[in-house]
Amino acid sequence: MFHVKQIRRFSLIFLLILVSCQKKQEVDYNSPVTPKGEEIKKDVHQIIRRRKSVRKFSEKPIPIGILEKIVEDGELAPSAGNTRPWDFVIVGKGRLEEIFKRIKWLKGNKPKKGEEPTAYIIILQDKKCLGWGGIASCAAAAENILLSATGYGIGSCWIGSVNEKEKLKEVFKAPENLEIFSVIALGYPKVDAKTGASP
Ligand SMILES: Cc1cc2nc3c(=O)[nH]c(=O)nc-3n(C[C@H](O)[C@H](O)[C@H](O)COP(=O)(O)O)c2cc1C
Repeated sequence: MFHVKQIRRFSLIFLLILVSCQKKQEVDYNSPVTPKGEEIKKDVHQIIRRRKSVRKFSEKPIPIGILEKIVEDGELAPSAGNTRPWDFVIVGKGRLEEIFKRIKWLKGNKPKKGEEPTAYIIILQDKKCLGWGGIASCAAAAENILLSATGYGIGSCWIGSVNEKEKLKEVFKAPENLEIFSVIALGYPKVDAKTGASP
């Protein structure tokens, strides 16, 4: 038998335990890990300030797992009317030249032999969303990809000037309902042997 007072006391203790458990679920923005224990790479403001277009890459390959994570971050971008009018193709070793020969680099900045990107992400745009909303949404995905790559210490360059888009679609067997929006060139930045800095 329990008295009402005892029951109240137990309920209060139970409630306090419940509240303290819930508090543990809150995100601690000063913690180096998420509540699930995943490592938080860097502060977002640091990443935004660190991102610069990189056009000289080291030959070290990017693990496929990281490229997939970067694409996942692209998919988390906001989109007009939640249309998510995008798809992504990861291009790695063996197919790199198909892209490299069709893209234009900022004047005087074409990567030299041995300094080319080691991977690309092709961003495809749904033909049903070719208007302003579709473009803005794909651009948001592109920016997420650039920032995500920066967070992994990977250099990137947004390439809008892509030649022979239809041919490229054929090469990578892109579905008919999608168009090439942009290409993101990726690779670990080449480090200057003398200064240790990325040029
Ligand atoms: C929509 C868009 C298209 C771009 N297309 C190209 C491109 O085709 N080739 C290239 O070398 N850089 C391209 N860039 C990268 C810009 O040249 C670069 O962002 C700009 O010079 C500023 O330098 P930063 O990215 O280092 O801040 C593009 C950037 C954007 C946003």
